[in-house]
Amino acid sequence: MVHSIFVLLLLLLCTTFSAISSHQQHPSITATMEQFSGYKIHGPPHTFIPTSLSVDAQGLQNQIDELSAFSDAPAPSVTRVLYTEKDVLARSYVKDLMGVAGLSVREDAVGNIFGRWEGQEPELAAVATGSHIDAIPYSGKYDGVVGVLGAIEAISVLKRSGFKPRRPLEVILFTSEEPTRFGISCLGSRLLAGSENLANALKTATDSQNTSFLDAARSAGYAKDKDDLSSVFLKKGTYSAFVELHIEQGPILEDEGISIGIVTAIAAPASLKVEFEGNGGHAGAVLMPNRNDAGLAAAELALAVEKHVLESGSIDTVGTVGILELHPGAINSIPSKSHIEIDTRDIDEERRNQVIEKIHQSAIKITETRGVKLSEFHIVNQDPPALSDEAVINAMETATTVLNLTSKLMISRAYHDSLFMARLSPMGMIFIPCYKGYSHKPEEFAKIEDMSNGVRVLALTLAKLSLQ
Ligand code: GLV
Ligand code: MN
Ligand code: MN
Repeated sequence: MVHSIFVLLLLLLCTTFSAISSHQQHPSITATMEQFSGYKIHGPPHTFIPTSLSVDAQGLQNQIDELSAFSDAPAPSVTRVLYTEKDVLARSYVKDLMGVAGLSVREDAVGNIFGRWEGQEPELAAVATGSHIDAIPYSGKYDGVVGVLGAIEAISVLKRSGFKPRRPLEVILFTSEEPTRFGISCLGSRLLAGSENLANALKTATDSQNTSFLDAARSAGYAKDKDDLSSVFLKKGTYSAFVELHIEQGPILEDEGISIGIVTAIAAPASLKVEFEGNGGHAGAVLMPNRNDAGLAAAELALAVEKHVLESGSIDTVGTVGILELHPGAINSIPSKSHIEIDTRDIDEERRNQVIEKIHQSAIKITETRGVKLSEFHIVNQDPPALSDEAVINAMETATTVLNLTSKLMISRAYHDSLFMARLSPMGMIFIPCYKGYSHKPEEFAKIEDMSNGVRVLALTLAKLSLQ
């Protein structure tokens, strides 16, 4: 009798103990986490590593849908251009979310927005993450947005898990990653990385409606105090690491059925503005031999861009003419002016530069054969590629392993704010699959479970980096 009561008590005790310990942590998870973090989880409080990462995936999807409503194009297209009314509304939506997540929010003179979760050792350099929410005309709702709203969710996931970061964690919403309004990409992150040239150029920059950058920024509540934008520059060492979550914008992950892309390098982008001037004239009266058609000069240059890119012999060299404007733009008037904008990129900077040089030579040759003037050949930006940092890659890889997700190392052919954050701190990027690789068009789509995986990988990566 006494014996069976004892056995019963022992059983009860065991069940209670295992219930408590499984609530706290399963030993194998503990081991993985210890190996993952490099810290004992029963050490001081800041060494605790989260074991349950519950992403509110439906909540994230709802936020993405809500944000997409701040658009100047009808759904499913999204158009959200820097400092427009819709951009300002979208920014305040994100600031509210940062507040709800318990982050302290600050903004700089161009509207880069920072949401900070203080660490146990607040004097240490923070670990940062983030992306952009501006959207090129008639694009989709996931580009950049997943990396901003997903980052806020990753912080919330860590908070819910009871994790306490040693280093502070910051979510950054970068201003104008897209070049739509003022013709320069990654405006906010370029400035954060200390681009004096850009800070100076923005003093006189105007958009296509002749609105100055500073007026536009002021109308959105920024650049209030002075014209000098150097206050935006950050010192190297402000962040100990930067990680950006983004849709792949290419088809590889989906085609290969892989959950996570770990970016090792970002291709080198460049953009050019070219203008030709001819004589113009009447479309009926001026005979063909007597024309100096600036429109045909631009068309010929566009074809030359394609030719020079293909001549590189590498699949990694790309070139696009996305803007071609003719003046005066009347069907019965020979174009007297043309304006074309060229985007060219390569993982090999030298090869990309050779393409730019060939485009320049072609533009000069066209002036001779067509009797037009090359009134502008302006290299707007000619950026080098960026390499991800080994320690950040390692943290991302470990996170995918711990989470039992398939991953692959890959390059980013699209540019990102990470290209410039790499100048300030060690950098890494997490890619998730997107439907057929579609991006910069309304069909852009990412599955809820892929976003959720990306958020979990981001959360664990941030956790690990915040303890280093
Ligand atoms: C980013 O939007 C890019 O064009 O790569
Ligand atoms: Mn984009
Ligand atoms: Mn993007």
